[in-house]
Amino acid sequence: MPPRSAKRPASSAVEDYLEQILELINTKGYARVVDIAERLSISQASVTNMVQKLDADGLLKYEKYRGLALTTAGEALARNITHRHHLLTDFLQLLGLDPQVIYHDVEGMEHHVSPATVHAIESLTSHLKRRPALLNSIRRGIVPARARHSAPSA
Ligand code: FE2
Repeated sequence: MPPRSAKRPASSAVEDYLEQILELINTKGYARVVDIAERLSISQASVTNMVQKLDADGLLKYEKYRGLALTTAGEALARNITHRHHLLTDFLQLLGLDPQVIYHDVEGMEHHVSPATVHAIESLTSHLKRRPALLNSIRRGIVPARARHSAPSA
């Protein structure tokens, strides 16, 4: 079992795999074990194990010498996690947060937001995009964490 899955719930690990596989297929036209291993910083042997598990679970089809393809169910899950990733990134970018903070937080948050929260953030994001003055005043009100920590306490 790779250390990553030991630390996180299986569903998050499965989502991370599917997310990376879909992105590889979209950008390169195919997803190979070696590329998934590189993107997730996991050994190829661990990726092969997980890919076989995903195959057994009906989320993809894996053939050792022909690569892998997502099934309809696997692609639906992959599109869903990818959508959550893009939505959360978009939302935090609107708030003007640091790109590294955004990436780190989105990678955690994306696995835990419910459909209701996704829907609420979608609505809020599109609302804020139509109200640049409101957005600017919100952004001005967000004091960077560094500044808060260094400010003298009242
Ligand atoms: Fe992600």
